[in-house]
Amino acid sequence: MRDTLGILTFNISNVLTKLKATAGSDEQELLAKEAQHCSYGDTVHYAEHPKIFERCEGSYLYDLQGREYLDLQMWYSAVNLGYANKAVNNALKAQIDKLPQLACQYLHREKIELAEMVCESIERGFGLKGRVQFNVGGSQAIEDSLKLVRNARGGKSLMFAFEGGYHGRTLGASAITSSYRYRRRYGHFGDRAQFVPFPYHFRGPKGMSKEEYGHHCVQQFERLFESEYNGVWDPKAGQAEYAAFYVEPIQGTGGYVIPPKNFFVELKKVLDRHGILLVVDEIQMGFFRTGKLWAIEHFDVKPDVLVFGKALTNGLNPLSGIWAREALINPTVFPPGSTHSTFNANPLGTAVALEAMKMMHEEDFATSVPKKGAYFLQGLQELQRRHKIVGDVDGLGLALRAEICAEDGFTPDKAMVDRMVDEALKGDLEHDGRRYGLVLDIGGYYKNVITLAPALTISYAEIDLAIALLDQLFARVTRR
Ligand SMILES: Cc1ncc(COP(=O)(O)O)c(C=O)c1O
Repeated sequence: MRDTLGILTFNISNVLTKLKATAGSDEQELLAKEAQHCSYGDTVHYAEHPKIFERCEGSYLYDLQGREYLDLQMWYSAVNLGYANKAVNNALKAQIDKLPQLACQYLHREKIELAEMVCESIERGFGLKGRVQFNVGGSQAIEDSLKLVRNARGGKSLMFAFEGGYHGRTLGASAITSSYRYRRRYGHFGDRAQFVPFPYHFRGPKGMSKEEYGHHCVQQFERLFESEYNGVWDPKAGQAEYAAFYVEPIQGTGGYVIPPKNFFVELKKVLDRHGILLVVDEIQMGFFRTGKLWAIEHFDVKPDVLVFGKALTNGLNPLSGIWAREALINPTVFPPGSTHSTFNANPLGTAVALEAMKMMHEEDFATSVPKKGAYFLQGLQELQRRHKIVGDVDGLGLALRAEICAEDGFTPDKAMVDRMVDEALKGDLEHDGRRYGLVLDIGGYYKNVITLAPALTISYAEIDLAIALLDQLFARVTRR
């Protein structure tokens, strides 16, 4: 015990000494308190020097010293309409003055209208009727979806999911998330997934086109059903041991990997032939990130269940949910009490979401996001020509990627990306006589991808600024 405490004290005093060397005095004090009182269990301490921000507006964050940071990840794509968006904030303020709290066993107008809006969007997009169940965070909505598909398939707790896929960190969600790192210390609670290769063309076998590789991945998956001895299918009963396949239309945490057009169409045919449900996780890519309300609309398949969160409320008040086909969620099969959380469908969240969804349509993101995305991607392609370390760039709408590699343009260089993120947070890049920092997110199977999710409201001038700052950053980290 004394040893453990000794090590702990030693570590904290190490942290404090490091902090004193790097921060101003107010910041120093806050960081010291954080080091003492906050758990290190979340992702703050992935960074060697955790960063404190004080203010936000539009595409920018401001630190305690008032330095300006252009945010190119926008709270992992939760703040699509920009920080401190006035209309969204006003919706929150109005709801605070009207009905700020209400137990979720009662109804309020905003919940009903929001559910209607989501259902109508899915009916328009896919021609399907269904219902919505709200919850608070993305992972909790994933948990609800797990209940739903297990219920619809006789309690089966096995799922398919993708290598590189991410669905959250609660027990059920991390069971279907590809990283064993998130499960290693906790054991299993029920759900398990078999992880299947995603058509990550840049790292796929050489000599295949993107479409050929997509087709190849589906063929490899279909092999599992060829014989009962491949482990997933009982041909006599005509039943799979698996309830559903969880997919992200574009992998988020996996590094904004965009599959070929033919992939999901072919995959869905295999699933339908074997009674396996398709659960589309739109938590990160939904709400026009890719230029369509639902990213899966790019791929001509219809979901059985669709899960959403993050940008639904522009990150202002947590709210998430699932939509499912009527057959899976009607009151007979999913009766009262099937799920519940004190804060699901909370009035502040639903009021904000209603306003945010109205704005997404008014702003015509379906037109502006593909155009801005194409412009941003052109800038990234130019950077790729100028810097050998940029192995791959790609994008769909404003979901963009830059994969950072060694000088061979292929070997993943995680250390370089870590250095970039740290340098970007120093806030001393320069453009037109002003100083800026950059807020970047890292993703990818090898943690070597800068995943770019700028505000959908970003201006063309801000895209130019982003490219100029990235150019400087790439030059700076390769000079060392
Ligand atoms: C695709 C996807 N699914 C699920 C989640 C989990 O959502 P939350 O972090 O709100 O629990 C995330 C979060 O990043 C995500 O990107």
